[in-house]
Amino acid sequence: MVRACFLLLLAAALAGCKSTPPPVPLAQLNAQQMHGHAVFQTNCSSCHYDRRDASLHGPPLLGVFKKPSLPSGAPANDERVTATILHGHGLMPAVGGAMDQQDIDDLLAYLHTL
Ligand code: HEC
Repeated sequence: MVRACFLLLLAAALAGCKSTPPPVPLAQLNAQQMHGHAVFQTNCSSCHYDRRDASLHGPPLLGVFKKPSLPSGAPANDERVTATILHGHGLMPAVGGAMDQQDIDDLLAYLHTL
């Protein structure tokens, strides 16, 4: 009995290490996050999946702020992601040209729900 409990706990702990919590469902987003989702669809979705853990042209953005670092190893924070959008990174071109500060703020708010 004790051993069975221990194994269950161990399994739960291992699963917890591997999987991040799921994204907030689209239906539960607030107005700012909804606008951020629209900005994502227009500017990012051609190269990144937001709700699938798979690469498209770039790495998935699923759980981007739940992981300690970006794929490049840079810290996963608003500053680095904003810089990536505005200046590009490696194979990613700068894509911020069509976005104003509000769009970027709302996009970051959406990415935080993933
Ligand atoms: C034309 C395709 C393309 C578009 C559009 C695009 N990306 Fe990327 N993105 C990439 C590629 C390719 C990489 C991998 C870059 C590398 O490491 O060489 C990348 C990497 C990233 C990274 C990881 C950076 C790092 O430091 O590891 C983030 C974050 C990111 N993109 C966010 C975005 C966001 C947000 C948008 C929309 C505003 C966007 N991207 C639009 C192609 C794109």
